[in-house]
Amino acid sequence: MHSTSLLSLLSAAATASAACLPRGTGAVQCPITFDGRIPATTELTDFDSSSTSLFNPDYVKGSSLKWSQIIQFPEGDTAHFDNDTLKSFEVTISDDSIFQTQKGFRRAGLQFKGDTNTASPGTTGIQTIHLSVKIDPARPLNLSHEYILAWHESADDANQFNFQTGTIIGQESLGADTYKVLDRNNKQIWSTPILEDSWQNFAVTLDFTANTLQVYYSEGDAPLESVTDAVSNNNAGEGQYQVGILKKPTGTSDVVNSGYQESGIDEGIIYGSVFIENGADGCVSL
Ligand SMILES: *[C@@H]1O[C@H](CO)[C@@H](O)[C@H](O)[C@H]1NC(C)=O
Ligand SMILES: *[C@@H]1O[C@H](CO)[C@@H](O)[C@H](O)[C@H]1NC(C)=O
Repeated sequence: MHSTSLLSLLSAAATASAACLPRGTGAVQCPITFDGRIPATTELTDFDSSSTSLFNPDYVKGSSLKWSQIIQFPEGDTAHFDNDTLKSFEVTISDDSIFQTQKGFRRAGLQFKGDTNTASPGTTGIQTIHLSVKIDPARPLNLSHEYILAWHESADDANQFNFQTGTIIGQESLGADTYKVLDRNNKQIWSTPILEDSWQNFAVTLDFTANTLQVYYSEGDAPLESVTDAVSNNNAGEGQYQVGILKKPTGTSDVVNSGYQESGIDEGIIYGSVFIENGADGCVSL
């Protein structure tokens, strides 16, 4: 076969397969403070180096693991704000996901490059964290445990908000199989059931001046809608965003250092459309 016709055949095939995969149609409307949307050309090893990763390659993970061993690129449709040029990624945890001496947790958390613990652009004015999640049936979470999937950790060690799933320790009556947004006082302000096979899109707006937080949500490729008012929340203390998995142990009051974690775990959750945008003048991408 003539090489040009082979090429056109290949590119036709690529177009056809791209057309079969639903792509997000959401458009980012506001200035991006930190971008965690993964270009389609990204390779796993790009997560290992500060020159190629959108995140800090050294944190927050088991020291024996590289991010290229933690991240996977799943098959399937992309999330709401991810068109053909972007792709989703999966964060996994294993028995080796022990950060420093924190033997109680299994964790792998991405921090945005440039998001410093103090004087970060991420804690100025109004900021909205966007993330879409989808479960991986091959790597289910164990919802008997408490998981934090995304949060903002203040420099003084309280989280301004937590995006969670599973069984919240001490708040078992909230139920296990939902995604939940908790405020700084660990009070649930909103939750929604986990869907088996659809993207679920979340945004949390943190107003660092007015001390409020507001939650937005949609399913699939639908535009986000506000699902709470801007509720009062203490957003003081600066700090950093984290996106990934923090799995707490069961059966202990010292969750950082002790408690029960089964061995042989292979768990993950799929992320897409991860970014922080500047909400000045009420801007929020839907
Ligand atoms: C896809 O998204 C990227 C990032 O937002 C944007 O720069 C690009 O223009 C979009 N491409 C198309 C074809 O819409
Ligand atoms: C899920 O976690 C509970 C509590 O730690 C444990 O008893 C159970 O064996 C775990 N299930 C699986 C499938 O690992």
